[in-house]
Formats: sequence, C-alpha cells, structure tokens
Amino acid sequence: MKVEHYDEKFPFIIIENFYSLDEINLVWEELDFLCYPFKLDPPTKTLAAKNKGTNLKQNEGVFLEKIYTDKNISNIIQLNDKIIDNQKQIIQEHPSWFFKNILKVESFSESNLISYYENACYYGKHKDASFFTFLRWVYKNPKSFIGGNLIFDDYDLEIEIKNNMGIIFPSSISHSVTEVQMKSNDMHKKMGRFCISTFYFLEKKVFHDKIDEVNFLQDKDKKNLQFI
Ligand SMILES: [Fe+2]
Repeated sequence: MKVEHYDEKFPFIIIENFYSLDEINLVWEELDFLCYPFKLDPPTKTLAAKNKGTNLKQNEGVFLEKIYTDKNISNIIQLNDKIIDNQKQIIQEHPSWFFKNILKVESFSESNLISYYENACYYGKHKDASFFTFLRWVYKNPKSFIGGNLIFDDYDLEIEIKNNMGIIFPSSISHSVTEVQMKSNDMHKKMGRFCISTFYFLEKKVFHDKIDEVNFLQDKDKKNLQFI
C-alpha cells in the first residue's frame, strides 16, 4: 500500500495497491458473486445524483448494506478496517486541516456502494452527501475498456484510474466519471470498471435506505442535496 497526500487545489489522498494479493482475491469473490444484472440496481435505486429530475449517472450498482443483515459477511466491508487500522498514516498525517483534524474513522458511519460500468456508462458532475468519500477501482486484466476516469470538474483535474488504486477526498468537492468505452465482445463478462465507494457520514444514519431517515437535515436542505 502506497499512500500519497496531495494538497494543491484541494486536499485528497491517493492509495496505490490498497489491497494485498490475498485481499484482492477476497474482493473479487464478492464482486463476481454480485455482478449479475438481476442483483445490481439501476441508478434510480442507488441514490443517483439528479439534475432537473434526470439521473446524472448511467451504471449499475448496489449498496452492500442493502444485501447483508450482518456486515461481517461482506469481505469488502471487512477490509474497510484497513482504513481504520492505518488511519494515522493515511488520513491524519495529511497536511491539510480537513484531514489532519478528522475524527477517528471508527466514529463515522459508512455506506458502501458497488458500481459497475460497461460501455457508455458515466457519472455526471455531482457532489456526495457524505463527509468524505473513499473510492477504489478494480478491473480484470487485460484491461478491456478505456475511459472511466475520475474528474474534479471545478479544478480541471483528471485522475487516471488504475487497478487496485483508491482515492479519498472531501465529499463536497464536485466530481464526475468519464464515459467508459468497451468492445461488445467484452461486455457482460465482468470485464468492466468496478468502483467500490465508501461514504463516511458524521452521524449514524441509515442513509442508503430512505431519504426520510436523513432526519438531521432540514427539509429545505434535502431539496438541494445531491446524492452519491
Ligand atoms: Fe460521487
């Protein structure tokens, strides 16, 4: 695991080789199990950000919290402990005020979303509703798609995704995903772009389930909130 802190236009953290070889095998066991059209939800069911009523994303995904009644069943959720166990190195040693003053990671509540992108999938400019966001990308080799990079639109910054690389950033920074292009022969074979998103919230709320449960927000704020 190689951690790099960036603090130029805004603070963020890049983690290369986030998972070890054994861990990535555990991740793939779960992704392979989940990546079927009848198991993944369309954007309307994964709290897609909207602009004037139109979904900003085109992909499929599922919140892990929707699937498991016991989160310890999920290899992916279990491996989030890597952030907790290494939080000083990864987060609190960042020079920016945003990360170095952050509360202990275990005091946040999390929501975990698996997203899968094949040809023509994208995610338009949006903000996440959490406090900070942790994304990591995995795909099968040989890489069978192009695009799917992460853009921080307001800062003209493009992050080229790499296998087993992650990024942590303040959720309020606008971001988008460029359109994925994939040959038809490679489609429907789990050869696309997987993104594992963990959203860290300041309060322990079941955010992935129902907007009505986000009762720490005022009604007027809910209207303007863009989702993950
Ligand atoms: Fe997002």
